[in-house]
Amino acid sequence: MSVIAHRGASEDAPEHTLAAYRKAIEDGADALECDVRLTADGHLVCVHDRRVNRTSNGRGAVSALELADLASLDFGSWKDDADALDPIEAPDRQLEDPERTSVLTLERLLELVADADRRVELAIETKHPTRWAGQVEERLVELLERFGHTKPARAAEWIPSVRVMSFSARSLHRVRAAAPEIPGVYLMQFLTPRYRDGRLPLGVQIAGPGIRILRAHPEYVAKAHRAGHQVHVWTVNEASDVELCRELGVDAVITNRPKQVRNQLGLA
Ligand code: G3P
Ligand code: CA
Repeated sequence: MSVIAHRGASEDAPEHTLAAYRKAIEDGADALECDVRLTADGHLVCVHDRRVNRTSNGRGAVSALELADLASLDFGSWKDDADALDPIEAPDRQLEDPERTSVLTLERLLELVADADRRVELAIETKHPTRWAGQVEERLVELLERFGHTKPARAAEWIPSVRVMSFSARSLHRVRAAAPEIPGVYLMQFLTPRYRDGRLPLGVQIAGPGIRILRAHPEYVAKAHRAGHQVHVWTVNEASDVELCRELGVDAVITNRPKQVRNQLGLA
């Protein structure tokens, strides 16, 4: 079972920061999950929420801000301040470290992965792509091409290093139209009758159910496998859920705690 670091090692460092992703690589994560959004001036940045209010000291929608606006904000202190209340966590904190506080562009994350001393995969989620009518996917595929994550012409053997995930089948179809070799992960919060038998939207390879779906419908994993799909489950932080995923033969777990999960699986 692969271990994917959700927003980086986001239990230990502020989510979606370079520090969180460096830690995830150090912790042995097989892949890094990140959410991407487009800024007003066309940059893909790694931010989960529509607005920056929760994870920074600023306010407003990512889509209404330019990269320079985001670069002036502190994306780390909200977590470090919360953790500083914990006397055990506090001594490790380096509050001045820009890698813990700066907004992260997808481009910078791709550089980090390119510089890693081992293979590290990426699981990139397009957030609210309908807002931009295809521009998120267009920019994403452009960047993936630039960093060598799309299939080179005439390559015989090629193993994808990136997966694109979305709750929007339309977004996955757009990526597939531009880069058919990049596997798509269809994220599901609920198991709708349409997909209960393990099938997925046309052309999508991987099922991405939330852990609650597996708790309620453990038989789903076998059904998806029978339909020819891998199953990547989010967000698996509790030891009992890791165990459930292992028992059911899940292919990958997406977790805020890659180190602990790898330990539990006997991988570290
Ligand atoms: O990896 C999928 C998972 O991240 C989806 O939920 O809200 O954390 O983006 P969310
Ligand atoms: Ca996500």
